[in-house]
Amino acid sequence: MYQTTKELRNAFLEYFGTHGHEVVDSSSLVPVNDPTLLFTNAGMNQFKDVFLGADKRSYSRATSSQRCVRAGGKHNDLDNVGYTARHHTFFEMLGNFSFGDYFKEEAIRFAWSFLTETLKLPKEKLCVTIYETDDEAFDIWNKKIGVAEENLIRIGDNKGSAYASDNFWQMGDTGPCGPCTEIFYDHGEHIWGGRPGTPEEDGDRFIEIWNIVFMQYNRQANGEMHPLPKPSVDTGMGIERIAAIMQGVHSNYEIDIFKQLIAKAADIIGVTDLENKSLRVIADHIRSCSFLIADGVMPSNEGRGYVLRRIIRRAVRHGNKLGATDAFFYKLVPTLIDVMGDAAKGLAQTQAIVEKSLKAEEEQFARTLERGLGILDTALNKLEGDVLDGETAFKLYDTYGFPVDLTADVCREREISVDESGFEVAMAKQRSRAQAAGQFNTDYNDALVIEEKTDFCGYTDLSLASEVMAIYQDGQEVDRVHVGDDAVVILKQTPFYAESGGQCGDKGTLRTQDCTFTVSDTQKYGQAIGHVGKVTQGTITKAQELNACVDHDNRQRTELNHSVTHLLHAALRQILGSHVSQKGSLVEPDKLRFDFSHFEAVSATELRQVEQVVNEQIRLNHPLHSEVMNIDEAKEKGAMALFGEKYDAEVRVVTMGDFSIELCGGTHVGRTGDIGLFKITSEGGIAAGIRRIEAVTGEAAMCYIAKQQGELAATAELLKADPLSVVSKLKIQLDRSKSLEKELAQLKDKLAAATSADLVGEAQEINGIKVLIKKLDNVEPGALRGLQDELKQKLKSGIVVLAIAGDKKVSLIVGVTKDLTSKVKAGELVSSIAAQVGGKGGGRPDMAQAGGSQPENLDNALSQVNAWLEERLA
Ligand code: ALA
Repeated sequence: MYQTTKELRNAFLEYFGTHGHEVVDSSSLVPVNDPTLLFTNAGMNQFKDVFLGADKRSYSRATSSQRCVRAGGKHNDLDNVGYTARHHTFFEMLGNFSFGDYFKEEAIRFAWSFLTETLKLPKEKLCVTIYETDDEAFDIWNKKIGVAEENLIRIGDNKGSAYASDNFWQMGDTGPCGPCTEIFYDHGEHIWGGRPGTPEEDGDRFIEIWNIVFMQYNRQANGEMHPLPKPSVDTGMGIERIAAIMQGVHSNYEIDIFKQLIAKAADIIGVTDLENKSLRVIADHIRSCSFLIADGVMPSNEGRGYVLRRIIRRAVRHGNKLGATDAFFYKLVPTLIDVMGDAAKGLAQTQAIVEKSLKAEEEQFARTLERGLGILDTALNKLEGDVLDGETAFKLYDTYGFPVDLTADVCREREISVDESGFEVAMAKQRSRAQAAGQFNTDYNDALVIEEKTDFCGYTDLSLASEVMAIYQDGQEVDRVHVGDDAVVILKQTPFYAESGGQCGDKGTLRTQDCTFTVSDTQKYGQAIGHVGKVTQGTITKAQELNACVDHDNRQRTELNHSVTHLLHAALRQILGSHVSQKGSLVEPDKLRFDFSHFEAVSATELRQVEQVVNEQIRLNHPLHSEVMNIDEAKEKGAMALFGEKYDAEVRVVTMGDFSIELCGGTHVGRTGDIGLFKITSEGGIAAGIRRIEAVTGEAAMCYIAKQQGELAATAELLKADPLSVVSKLKIQLDRSKSLEKELAQLKDKLAAATSADLVGEAQEINGIKVLIKKLDNVEPGALRGLQDELKQKLKSGIVVLAIAGDKKVSLIVGVTKDLTSKVKAGELVSSIAAQVGGKGGGRPDMAQAGGSQPENLDNALSQVNAWLEERLA
């Protein structure tokens, strides 16, 4: 009997394995080579190109248990998770695939035999849908398998009917697709619902368990359907659904995996009601979040990273609702690895990264969660009607990091909805404000809209003759500009590189014999390349021919830094792991900056390793190759593309040996050896999960090292050591100063003891009680407390008032032995003195301290203590 999820997964793969199917590992949740898809959402994704005939495998039958995430689209399931029996952000799809091998009959036979013979599901519990016009499938089911006509339901893409589900499956708007046949399981009369195709079909009684798609077409963007090279089969069965049936439960949340995750979550948070919906949400979300991170997605503010962030934050909010006070979510990872068995192989390898990333995100959000919830609560209490305005939702997003669906989640519990379009409007407004602010800070010509197109020739040339196409001054097109004028000059063709991809714009000159335009920056304006700068000689005129000459040295130094950025990226992935991906970069002539995803500070050892690897690649002196090719071809070659970045169909690919291959439009050195030397100057965090490395190359690296060496030499000279023994020499010095400090402290104590012995003799008596009032010199304020203690001990019974007058500062302390505190309170006495020296004080009845700002009044204040005490001690 197969019951546990682990057993079912194995049984399925084994069944199809013994029937000639290659058992293929689940692919990553981040689809490879498929920009049309946010996350892997079906078993067939990794075989898309095989179905299309564009990829060949050594096998024509395959089977897999594929991890899938269905969340993040506009209409995603996230909101429903936890509240229904079958919605999940993450699930596993069991599937078998035929690539032009078997077709309808065998596919149907396999499914039926696995369900009714291997798993022994009662046939009378099953019914089947087929595509309305698919008589072939009808005949196979009816005549060959023996399913009665009344259990075969024809379903079409009958859009006219309110309740017709369609039996045509497609991966997305484009790609492989075809009619399907689905097998349903009847959970029994006690559950409301009807068969597919009936008005009650949305109920929970009849549940689809297996979808068999007869892949026959490739849908084009224009809607046309082209036949696939060979008819194929794609199937999918949700493992959670079949597990629910085999374990005799109705809701997916009652199967083994979820039972254990829910129990663990309840245990960590300290909840006893295991039925609580929030526990379900958490148990669901830990699966998607952990596997997404294991597959290289990191929480961020865009694209896949943002979907992940939203799911984590939703889980954290539900934990908070259950009363969790500390980070709890990441603690579920070990249980998850355990319950997922073989499916968690990759997760187990990245466990530490996954836990750390989850914890970091959890802690970061926890800081604003309470306050945000408070604001939301106030807004909801004040709300008239049942819609929360978009401005408030936006404020929660912008200031407290509440994704809008999290706000909606909280609102939903009070049956309130969120004005999401109002939210979008507020968001758009902020974007345009940010852009406007950006323009204000940068160049005065930034807002230019320019129609011209400039040819960029700077990959090969650094100077060439060109024609002035247009000139802009203060945002207006003009015919000429004169000496002293700031302007933007557009040329027909140019060797100047315009800032993009992190690489800064070129500097240089545009000149003829009579005039010079000094270019301080180069920017893109649409398709035009604008030379930003000042006329430094003569007049520049439209249609004029001139020589465009890039500042060679500036460009060359920039190129060293750009090329090394690629090496750095690859080295980081090698040393820290493949979760590292580029989040931003800045390449200038003097230095480079590289931002990347990583969950903790990079250690000094790791930084040294990274430097070592990069320098090794520099010394290998790889020639740089750049090639323009089709984006798909580039990705196939393994070119590193950035998540969420939009690329043209034709891209430039830059390769350095077999070490680095990246999509890049920038300019580079001829050979890696040109870089000379690479040196990291700093590493630090700039946001949760994002680190920044700054570094230098070439001559700048030499200068950096020379400077460090200079410091070292100077230190050595001071220590009278040679540079290589500075550390041991310095250690001796530090040890010595430590022991001197110790000695000094001991002497101070001795001195204080001696002082206190002297002082005791100075005590006077007021009404039979020993009182010492003393202004001290040569005593540190920090020593007052100890001295006061000692004096009290020596006096056994008495009152001590000590004061130090410093520069514009008074320190006071009053000590009263315990037997006298009913008569005199130290706090009251110190306050009365402090009041006269411009200060305030307070403390316990037996010891109180105060400060003041008028040392000139101290003597007078102390002289009044006697009278004050006499009054109390009378
Ligand atoms: N690819 C099909 C589905 O996801 C089997 O339902």
